[in-house]
Order: sequence, then structure tokens, then C-alpha cells
Amino acid sequence: MSMDDHSAPNVVDLPDAEATRALGERLAVLLQPGDLVVLVGDLGAGKTTLTQGIGAGLGVRGQVASPTFIIARAHPSLGEGPDLVHVDAYRLGSLEEVDALDLDSSLEDSVTVVEWGEGLVEHLSEDWLEVRLERPRGGEGAADTRTAALLGHGPRWAGIALPS
Ligand SMILES: Nc1ncnc2c1ncn2[C@@H]1O[C@H](COP(=O)(O)OP(=O)(O)OP(=O)(O)O)[C@@H](O)[C@H]1O
Ligand SMILES: [Mg+2]
Repeated sequence: MSMDDHSAPNVVDLPDAEATRALGERLAVLLQPGDLVVLVGDLGAGKTTLTQGIGAGLGVRGQVASPTFIIARAHPSLGEGPDLVHVDAYRLGSLEEVDALDLDSSLEDSVTVVEWGEGLVEHLSEDWLEVRLERPRGGEGAADTRTAALLGHGPRWAGIALPS
């Protein structure tokens, strides 16, 4: 944790996939061109589901799907807002490789959402929004329940009220 980390994470309960999508839509309202969102969570934690909500909230073209086999996909804005660049960092060496893919959207004009980006992208930007998706163990009938812990890093996120 650096001095630019802002207090404790906000934790949001996500009882089902629709709640995760809705959180993405609420986050989209806060997102601006150049923003970097790093999604952390195990296989099937809901990273792509959250990104679908962000895409819906931003109003971008195309179905946001798992980027697993394509590394990164650009979704152009249908309106005035930023494009969405959706990255699967799993097999990526660095975020610079995304620039090298020569997408139609540039990262500084887009909202970039990275699945599996932990440890890879943080040092490339002083500002990023970290979202940690977790499946709490146990609890009968709670199979679908997840939580999202939101934590802004860097001056961009200082004083920004995150969903809770
Ligand atoms: N509360 C919840 N939040 C998100 N997804 C949920 C929830 N409950 C059930 N699901 C289901 O879990 C699955 C989550 O898959 P998703 O592709 O979003 O995860 P992921 O973290 O991107 O996985 P991967 O590691 O393969 O990229 C979906 O099928 C979704 O419908
Ligand atoms: Mg995924």
C-alpha cells in the first residue's frame, strides 16, 4: 500500500449476476477517458459479468464477452462517452502489448478494464481502480453470492465516492 491508497475498500454485496452487472453500470457513471480498472478474482468470480455492466453503462457497441482467446477487444462508444477496451491480461506480458495490438481505440481516450491484471498493470499508471471479486465460502443457498471490494489508487480516485 502506498500513501496514495485511499483508506479501506468499499465492499458491495452481489447476491446474483444481475447485481454484479448493476454494479458495473454504477461504476460506469464514474469512469472517464484514460481510466484503468483492474479486476481481481478467481475463475468465474464475475469479472466479465462486471465488465458487461460497465459496457452497458458506458453505452458501447458489441457484446462484452470473455476476452480469453483474443487478449483485448475494443468496444467503440455509441455516444459521446469513452470507448471500452476490455483486456484479458492472463497471457499478456505487459499493458504495452495492448498498445502494440493497434486497436482502434487508444488507451488514453478509453476506459480500460483488465481481467487478471493484478501485478501487471499497476506500475504503468499512478491511478487505477481495483475491484476484487470474491465468493465467500459456505453459507447454504448462498452459492451465487459474491462480494466486490472497491479500492481507488492514486490522485485520480482521491475523494471519489465509490459505490458501497
Ligand atoms: N453474484 C454473481 N456475480 C457474478 N456472476 C455470477 C454471480 N452469481 C452467479 N454468477 C455467474 O457466474 C459466472 C461468472 O462468470 P464470469 O465470466 O463473469 O467470471 P470471470 O471472473 O470473468 O471468469 P474468468 O476467470 O473465466 O474470466 C456467470 O456465469 C454468472 O452468471
Ligand atoms: Mg472473464
